[in-house]
Amino acid sequence: MAHTVAAQDIATADAAAHDWWRSSVIYQIYPRSFADSSGTGVGDLRGITARLESLADLGVDAIWLSPFYRSPQKDAGYDVSDFRDVDPLFGTLDDFDAMVARAHELGLRVIADIVPNHSSDQHPWFQAALAAGPGSKERERYIFRDGKGEHGELPPNNWESVFGGPMWTRVTEPDGTPGQWYLHIFDTSQPDFDWELEEVREEFDGVLRFWLDRGVDGFRVDVAHGLIKADGLPDFVQDDEEASMGGGAATQSPYWAQDRVHEIWRRWRKVTDEYEGQRILAAEAWVYPLEFMANWVRPDEMHQTFNFGYMETHWDAADLRAVIDDSITTFGAVGAPSTWVLSNHDMIRHATRLALGKDTPQGHGVGPASPGLPDVEEGIRRARAASLFMLSLPGGAYLYQGEELGLPEAIDIPDEARQDPTWHRTEGERYGRDGCRVPLPWEADAPAYGFSPTGDAWLPQPAVYGTLARDAQSGVEGSTLEMYRAALRLRREHRIGVGSGDVAWEDSPEGVLIHRVGDIRVIANVSGAPVPVEGDVLVTSHALEDGALPADATVWVRVRG
Ligand code: NOJ
Repeated sequence: MAHTVAAQDIATADAAAHDWWRSSVIYQIYPRSFADSSGTGVGDLRGITARLESLADLGVDAIWLSPFYRSPQKDAGYDVSDFRDVDPLFGTLDDFDAMVARAHELGLRVIADIVPNHSSDQHPWFQAALAAGPGSKERERYIFRDGKGEHGELPPNNWESVFGGPMWTRVTEPDGTPGQWYLHIFDTSQPDFDWELEEVREEFDGVLRFWLDRGVDGFRVDVAHGLIKADGLPDFVQDDEEASMGGGAATQSPYWAQDRVHEIWRRWRKVTDEYEGQRILAAEAWVYPLEFMANWVRPDEMHQTFNFGYMETHWDAADLRAVIDDSITTFGAVGAPSTWVLSNHDMIRHATRLALGKDTPQGHGVGPASPGLPDVEEGIRRARAASLFMLSLPGGAYLYQGEELGLPEAIDIPDEARQDPTWHRTEGERYGRDGCRVPLPWEADAPAYGFSPTGDAWLPQPAVYGTLARDAQSGVEGSTLEMYRAALRLRREHRIGVGSGDVAWEDSPEGVLIHRVGDIRVIANVSGAPVPVEGDVLVTSHALEDGALPADATVWVRVRG
């Protein structure tokens, strides 16, 4: 089929030299908030297609799209009711095909997001399970259990949902009586599948093939540390930290990172390997330490895993160096490249987060009442330094839409506009993730900053997004957008990121990190005294001051001689 041929063409171009995914820069598109062609205030596939050229021009290798499948949108599309169709909110399958064709034409690979841990409660399988009642075959596809207590009025165990509240919801049986409970790691509207069942596994083999046949170049796998639960579903005492996407002692928990989950990834790898053109699997696995995370990228499992250890590291030179060395050694030991990531749709944008100077548990967010909110300019400056440094590291990198503009977290979202289930399930105790999901600004002077033709936007855009709009930065020397463009161009030209080799560190003063890639020296002044810079400046996150690099700045220089 046409799309497969296009995917192969891209592969042929660089296959001889290198596995593309080992050093790729993959740009995350959050479809709701990227570009709205229809004027609904929610982004869509046609909007993406129309803007793809700007990503090719930015210089990324691939795009990853968060879910666009049919969904009641209770968790922004991570609640899927049909894994083989596009939600009308985003368009049609034809729009999807056109988007993939255009991306491939521009030399961009396309990664889809697959959500295997759970479905929407509106999925036909779940509706059938509700209708069929206890003991039925239909209920076996999900995790239904009788409750505890004299009348089954208590949940089967004490597990707490990642979004707050119990991980169980009680159903009303078809005869109208209060009945069994079903398990949902996330929202009530997201019942977990029972992956012990072969039928569930076969169903997902089919879903993978459906999208691979349509030409996708791989999958980002949602909650790749979930899926298998400990036998007998034993109680678990969790602290607040563990209630985030699975940090902390996740390795001990009965619903994260069970050893048998790896059977599934081996099976999936066989499916993707049937296809031409290096189709990849990338794990969202919030497990620590990195030695444990590396299990997801053993040679017969996934290709990449998001390096959340790096993402969660503070802006601190010693800590950064430690996590980088650890990543390279640890992933290298299983033959995998490390990846690097600073922002995504679940995390406070790094233009805000890195300047907060405190732990910011994944998914908790910040809002108007959060203490110690940073100055916007200071945050952007630090984010630029961090991004320019990240793009110099060996391995693959992930960018999240809008970071190339330096967008900070949107803080002042009115309570009534917030949509993240985290906000609602915790009754406002956690702001959740809306602040990193606000629609992108494309044009400073257009309605909704060019996001939608009508000026509608499903979350309100802060005024600073106007100043940071893409057209206000394009071609402007020293802008964040031009810094990313220059770095990505140099990365290609100098094959930066290629090879699983070590970082060639050089001696550096306290608070500073220096390394060499070929004839380029990368200096990140995290928190040190100004560092004198010799050589030709190729790209810098902040102007040198009297020939020296101040703190919160990174520079790439060509070393003379
Ligand atoms: C992880 C996704 O990144 C997040 O956005 C989502 O809410 C959960 N998985 C549930 O699918």
